[in-house]
Amino acid sequence: MSAIKITNNAYWVGVKDSNLKKFDIIMNLKHGTTYNAYLVKGEKVAIIDTVKKGFTEEFLNNIREIVPIQNISYLIINHTEPDHSGAIMALIKENPNIEIICSASAVPFVKNVINTEIPIRGVKDNEILDLGGRALTFKIMPYMHWPDTMMEFLSGDEILFSCDGFAAHLAEESIFMGKSNDEYNRQFHYYWDAIMRPFSSYIRKNLPKLDALEIKIIAPSHGPIIGETAKEYIDKYKEWIADKTASANLVSIIYASNYDNTKVLAEKIGEKMKQNGFNTALIDASECDHEQVRDKIEASKAVVIGTPTFNGDAVKPIWDIVNLFSTVSSIGKKAAIFGSYGWSGEGPKLVAERLTGLKLKVFEEIYKVRLIPSEAELQLLNEYCDRMIQFLKN
Ligand code: FEO
Repeated sequence: MSAIKITNNAYWVGVKDSNLKKFDIIMNLKHGTTYNAYLVKGEKVAIIDTVKKGFTEEFLNNIREIVPIQNISYLIINHTEPDHSGAIMALIKENPNIEIICSASAVPFVKNVINTEIPIRGVKDNEILDLGGRALTFKIMPYMHWPDTMMEFLSGDEILFSCDGFAAHLAEESIFMGKSNDEYNRQFHYYWDAIMRPFSSYIRKNLPKLDALEIKIIAPSHGPIIGETAKEYIDKYKEWIADKTASANLVSIIYASNYDNTKVLAEKIGEKMKQNGFNTALIDASECDHEQVRDKIEASKAVVIGTPTFNGDAVKPIWDIVNLFSTVSSIGKKAAIFGSYGWSGEGPKLVAERLTGLKLKVFEEIYKVRLIPSEAELQLLNEYCDRMIQFLKN
């Protein structure tokens, strides 16, 4: 694949990995992917991102089609994940005078990638790199999707180099998006869901930085370059980052129950929540659609989880639910844990520890009852709920 002109001042110098079937372990690919890298020409030349290590030669040859490597002044690293940072050293070896530029928080990461002591310039939000005749303005976009992520805007050409933002995994014949089509939209959404969605609260905070830019072209790090529909795809992100917890006043009560004892507790908790003005979703973890539960968790102000204990552990359907928390924005979400048990009842505590590890705010009291809850124990549950509701409201 050769270099491709985007505008008079910008070229695609990336590579295609058409046969890749799995990305980042978690994504199944149907159409392979691209590792997009770009060359921007003013009086000076900047390269934006590199490629995965195995594609280094093709990447360097693409650059050589436009300029000799010796003519490059800057290498901009938008984030340090290896699919875009794999050819940094190959470039620097050919031209040791290239200055590496990245976000300030990426500096230590880049050092860890290249393991070589060379100067690296960390830039701040809105800092400008003047190439002579063209300038790049940096936009620091933490957790979109790495902590060190940044983008840059090429004014004059109105191109946003958006790192993994607005990316999709497709290696098609053209590197430009054709007419918007269903399969592209599916892949665009799948990429959002798998890569960006867990960071939606950060993206909500930082995406407005793009509002003042007259973006005509989005040049992401994977998949097609988006032209005339750029705004439409930015709007999709705006829709997806909306805070789902804002209006729903929802508490999800998710439980597993072998002999209905934990279920009885879950139902009582649900009734109490409703009496206190919450909307509730009562979900049996053994018989639920995980996609729907994921949406519920994301939309819930708080999640209350009930597990029995089996062989000293919480049960698998509950661990499957717990594993969903890291796939949505759940840091700081409130949680409480309960359960009926037969012998020693370790399950709820293990779930509480795991959710605490995932940075949820977990109510320190766990409500446990041995086997079938008595009337007296249900009264204690009622009092427990009063304290838990105070915790959820504060
Ligand atoms: Fe495509 Fe976050 O690397």
